[in-house]
Amino acid sequence: ADINLTQVRDDLVALAFEAGRMILSANPSAASADTKINAVDIVTETDKAVEHLVSSRLSSLYPSYSFVGEETYVKGVTAVTDAPTFIVDPIDGTQNFVHGFPHACISLGFTVGRVPSVGVVYNPFLDILYTGIRGQGSYMQRNASEGTPKEKQKLPLGGGDRKLGKLSTSLVSIEWGSQRDGENFELKNRAFKRIAESGGGMVGGFRSLGSAALNICAVAAGQLDMYWEGGCYAWDVAAGWCILSEAGGKMFGGNPGDWETSLTSRKYLAVRGASEGQKELVEEFWACLDGEKMA
Ligand code: IPD
Repeated sequence: ADINLTQVRDDLVALAFEAGRMILSANPSAASADTKINAVDIVTETDKAVEHLVSSRLSSLYPSYSFVGEETYVKGVTAVTDAPTFIVDPIDGTQNFVHGFPHACISLGFTVGRVPSVGVVYNPFLDILYTGIRGQGSYMQRNASEGTPKEKQKLPLGGGDRKLGKLSTSLVSIEWGSQRDGENFELKNRAFKRIAESGGGMVGGFRSLGSAALNICAVAAGQLDMYWEGGCYAWDVAAGWCILSEAGGKMFGGNPGDWETSLTSRKYLAVRGASEGQKELVEEFWACLDGEKMA
């Protein structure tokens, strides 16, 4: 049967606002969060409660569709397949959330044949909503949950004709991620130094804001030129990926030469839409890895 992507988008937006109210009314603390792989990989009761709300609502609205969520993921068991699948991070930016830094979101992706087909990313602290539907463009809305007239802006903001320049004039987001040991972490640290010193000058600016989904949305909006991370998961990127593609941006792989990447590759390089310079900037960035590849 045909899938009504507009209906899926509307249902996900309604859920995002409901989840947003839960997130805003929670009173988390860094001290009371549980840890997963290490002390920086944290989960709160709110992450779990939001995922439960989302998964139970989606299974009653769309009983035949699959669900992949960060907090119920089981390694080796949960898989992203070709089936219509909701891919959900209940709170992306959990460190920010527990510290009250207002840069966290709920990330609701929907894939068909593993292609990101609907993306809804909502930051309840700033009341900013990003949405995208495959083939229909992507949008950013401020004061999104208010009943008053809404400002819905097509992405990228200001149109897509701005050229991309060199790394030395680019605003780049990178994240350390939650894995803080091992060869990939060492490689990232070497690469961060090379990127910062690239082109005999400096990268225009590094940002590490703590939410993969919001990073990708900022790239889609054209507020960041690129975002690089190795180690995050499909639920961090699925929703943003749709929003990015619909804004003319592209998701490349995090390793040199990976012009194509997959949802589950865990190595991503998002680049904003531009009339020219995308390929050149990607190559300049990859060169900073100096032939090294993340496992
Ligand atoms: C994390 C954030 C962070 C990224 C990590 C993710 P979470 O997601 O997106 O920016 O660097 O790799 O795990 O744990 O807050 O949902």
